[in-house]
Amino acid sequence: MNSKLLDLVKKRSTTRIFDSREVNSEDLLYCIRVAIQAPSGANRQPWRFLIIDDPLLRKELREKCEEQEKIFHENVNAELKEWFRSKQIMWHKPHLTSAPSLLAIFSDQNMVYATESTWLAIGYILIVIEEKSLSTVTYTPPHPKGLRELFGSPENFRLETILPIGYSADPKQKEERQSTEKLIYRNRWRELNV
Ligand SMILES: Cc1cc2nc3c(=O)[nH]c(=O)nc-3n(C[C@H](O)[C@H](O)[C@H](O)COP(=O)(O)O)c2cc1C
Repeated sequence: MNSKLLDLVKKRSTTRIFDSREVNSEDLLYCIRVAIQAPSGANRQPWRFLIIDDPLLRKELREKCEEQEKIFHENVNAELKEWFRSKQIMWHKPHLTSAPSLLAIFSDQNMVYATESTWLAIGYILIVIEEKSLSTVTYTPPHPKGLRELFGSPENFRLETILPIGYSADPKQKEERQSTEKLIYRNRWRELNV
């Protein structure tokens, strides 16, 4: 099957190392323009986008996130610990200060389906970032509430993710996906591999 969209999403992968090239602010705006075309429960459009370009704020953000990450990594179960080790994911979050752009995305929890809808918008962003030949990592801090003070964001707005955005300098390969056949059932549920 030949599809431009399929090719694009097959090419997309998470980047945790960025080169120093700046991201054009028009490109960033374009990504957000695409994101807000996502559907949302009752069309509440519960998302907000915070561009973080103050170097001092980024430094503080990284420090706070790394504090949280140290505790998180000490306490994860053995299976996840091994997965993190195999991917060389540690508590260090250098991309919070080194990625050319940083975009935090919030959901208004006073609205119906706020989280579901905001993650749809995040999905749109991940694809449009690839369309622009940019890259990101869907970074989810362990305790987003603990970062609220830094941003001055209202209590009802939940931080869903922080996207460091830039051009990839990450040599890693795209992660494997399971085969489609294994994941589609017809009429009745069945176990994988049967
Ligand atoms: C909901 C969600 C949360 C994630 N949180 C993190 C994170 O906190 N840190 C990180 O390095 N990657 C995070 N990722 C990236 C995933 O590890 C990555 O998407 C996955 O391993 C598949 O790799 P790929 O994006 O290269 O295909 C997250 C992805 C999603 C969708």
